[in-house]
Amino acid sequence: MKTIPCCRLSNGVDIPVLGLGVYKTTDPEDMRNAVSAAIEAGYRLFDTARMYENEALLGECLEASGLKRSELFINSKLHMDDMGYDRAIKAFEQSLKDLKTDYLDMFMIHWPGQQKERLLDTWRALEDLYLDGRIRALGMSNFLIKHIDWILEGCRVRPVLDQKEHNPRFSEPELYEYCEKNGIKVQAWSPLMRGAFDDPVIMGLSEKYGRTPAQIILRWQLDEGFLVIPKSVRRERIFENADVFGFSLKEEELRAIDGLNIRKSTSMTKDPLTFDF
Ligand SMILES: NC(=O)c1ccc[n+]([C@@H]2O[C@H](COP(=O)([O-])OP(=O)(O)OC[C@H]3O[C@@H](n4cnc5c(N)ncnc54)[C@H](OP(=O)(O)O)[C@@H]3O)[C@@H](O)[C@H]2O)c1
Repeated sequence: MKTIPCCRLSNGVDIPVLGLGVYKTTDPEDMRNAVSAAIEAGYRLFDTARMYENEALLGECLEASGLKRSELFINSKLHMDDMGYDRAIKAFEQSLKDLKTDYLDMFMIHWPGQQKERLLDTWRALEDLYLDGRIRALGMSNFLIKHIDWILEGCRVRPVLDQKEHNPRFSEPELYEYCEKNGIKVQAWSPLMRGAFDDPVIMGLSEKYGRTPAQIILRWQLDEGFLVIPKSVRRERIFENADVFGFSLKEEELRAIDGLNIRKSTSMTKDPLTFDF
């Protein structure tokens, strides 16, 4: 088994640079097989959310894995229906219960919305949970610069990560620059464009390196400092997606993939700039 490397978040917590996404993995057999293959392949980070309705199933599989809790890194996210101080605390308790754990490694607000006071009130709840030692790192998901600014203005605990769609067709360089300046790592969701790899640049590099298109894309993201959480329920793909640590792309190859950005989302139906709830 290979070890997946970690990087250090700005609050000192180490996070694996690659983990398994489990969005849409709701079939028990699929989850059992995926988690067991992932653990065998060296994955230690698992990314779920209240919204995915599979925290309890993931919790069961992680418990059955035989790994110590301290060997795992569990991400979950607060559902948009649970915004506000009291609701956020209650929802967090439920996530813990379902995941069969007494702390989370990373807890994120899933969507920022457009209501600053509600967002800050929710952040205060996450800060209290963090200060009580029940969350090791506070994250955001789908946050843009304006939302992060709201949080940074007066927070007691700074966010250390923004989970955002990022792949060859969708990237937001100004956001990444801002995040870097503020000690915030970006974790890429839909890193593989949900399996749509028809681009000649990607295919050409795949041929040149004798690596699959998925491996080329993940390598590009890791070489540029992103964290990645590719999703698969298939054993061979789970192994393939983790086997990306033995090579690097050249500078001009990274730039060629950067050049594919057309800001076209693979799957996002809501624009975080305007979406409210
Ligand atoms: N924060 C957010 O708002 C947000 C939004 C979306 C996703 N996410 C997180 O990010 C994770 C990943 O994103 P995603 O699930 O949208 O998409 P993704 O990881 O880009 O792609 C997953 C799809 O690609 C296929 N696939 C995986 N590995 C492959 C390979 N090596 N070759 C060919 N096809 C492959 C999978 O099919 P099989 O399963 O059949 O292999 C699945 O259909 C999610 O699971 C979730 O944890 C977060």
